[in-house]
Amino acid sequence: MSPEPKTGFPGGLDPGALCETWGTPLYVYDARVMLEQLATFRAAFSKLPHRILYAAKALSTLEVLRLFRKEGTGLDAVSVEEIELGLRAGFRPADILFTPSFPSAGDLERAAGLGARINIDSLSTLDKFVGCHGSNTACCLRLKPWLRAGEGPEAVERWREDSKFGITLDELDTACERARSKGLRIEGLHVHSSSVILDAEVFLETAGALFEAAGNIPELDYLDFGGGIKVPHREEDPAVDLAGLARRLEPLYRSFSQGREKELELWFEPGRFLVSRAGILLARVTGLKENDGEVLAGVDTGFHHLLRPRLYGAWHEITNLSNPGGEPAEYRIVGQLCEPDDLATARLIPKIREGDLLAFHNAGAYGASMASNYNSRLRPAELLLQAGEAKLIRRRETLEDLLGSQPGA
Ligand code: LLP
Repeated sequence: MSPEPKTGFPGGLDPGALCETWGTPLYVYDARVMLEQLATFRAAFSKLPHRILYAAKALSTLEVLRLFRKEGTGLDAVSVEEIELGLRAGFRPADILFTPSFPSAGDLERAAGLGARINIDSLSTLDKFVGCHGSNTACCLRLKPWLRAGEGPEAVERWREDSKFGITLDELDTACERARSKGLRIEGLHVHSSSVILDAEVFLETAGALFEAAGNIPELDYLDFGGGIKVPHREEDPAVDLAGLARRLEPLYRSFSQGREKELELWFEPGRFLVSRAGILLARVTGLKENDGEVLAGVDTGFHHLLRPRLYGAWHEITNLSNPGGEPAEYRIVGQLCEPDDLATARLIPKIREGDLLAFHNAGAYGASMASNYNSRLRPAELLLQAGEAKLIRRRETLEDLLGSQPGA
């Protein structure tokens, strides 16, 4: 087996030793990076009354939820199961905002029964919710997102027409009246613009429109800007200047607040910003192959563990931990599935040998949480590095996990 380097790895731990103990593929998260990202977010918005709700969908492993709960964040949950996980992690129901898409009446009833706050994104969901809100006497309304569609003043106003999410501005008055007539207070207005916010202008436009819409709803407690703050994946990627964005948001907020009786909180639901950089997927090279002039390096993973390259063409940096000083060569990195599952193409990586350990970076967000059992493959173990120790926070799946849900197996 190739020698493993001991430097440059999260938590100062030796990745080779971790893989000896826990096997590969292996997700490894560094708690310190998560906490640093949270501190950066908080520092940026420190002059504004704000609240952070961690978006569980990015990485919903209980120990990660607990980490954010201990730091005092709330939780953005998209399914009843995420609410349940949040409660299990110790979040109070009132700290969880449930933002479902096309929920069934049963989903709404369960969520209300669990005491989570509800974010409603269509008139039909509102109608369902009034039938089952139980002791929940408030709701948030999710507006349809909008983005700059081009240059010029008209473009700024454009709704993102193809979005399935949210109620339109035209429906907002009807939604408010309907909710109030059923005894529901509108406690929040929400919008999640997109998951690729790189541009402060897009965010500020959205904020402006949200403030305007909120002008007619005196009972609001908060405005929720959703998540979507992108993180750089490669050196040349721009990073969002969060502090600069907050500085520009402040005057908008101050002028909106003038004459309002209640001080509104600004809520944010970052997922990837908090956990993406903190995570690495470690995989072992199982073989090399020449294919019409290109060199394929096969690894013991695939899109069943890291879907983003396949689904979005996402670029994840790949380092060869076993041979960091090797001569760089061009590789196509492929997985073990029964169909094209390229994790990278034409990628310059220090010389790869069979048995080398590769690290896929920025894998903390939407890595493990989007993993599947395709090809009846088992999901990897997950480790959390904290205070120089590696803690197993999800064990590797076993065949029994695959069989467990199948009667008669
Ligand atoms: N709030 C709401 C209502 C959302 O829909 C999302 C993400 C977030 C917050 C968190 O967004 P973030 O800060 O993580 O960008 N699987 C995709 C991303 C889909 C995200 C959907 N909603 C990916 O791998 O990039």
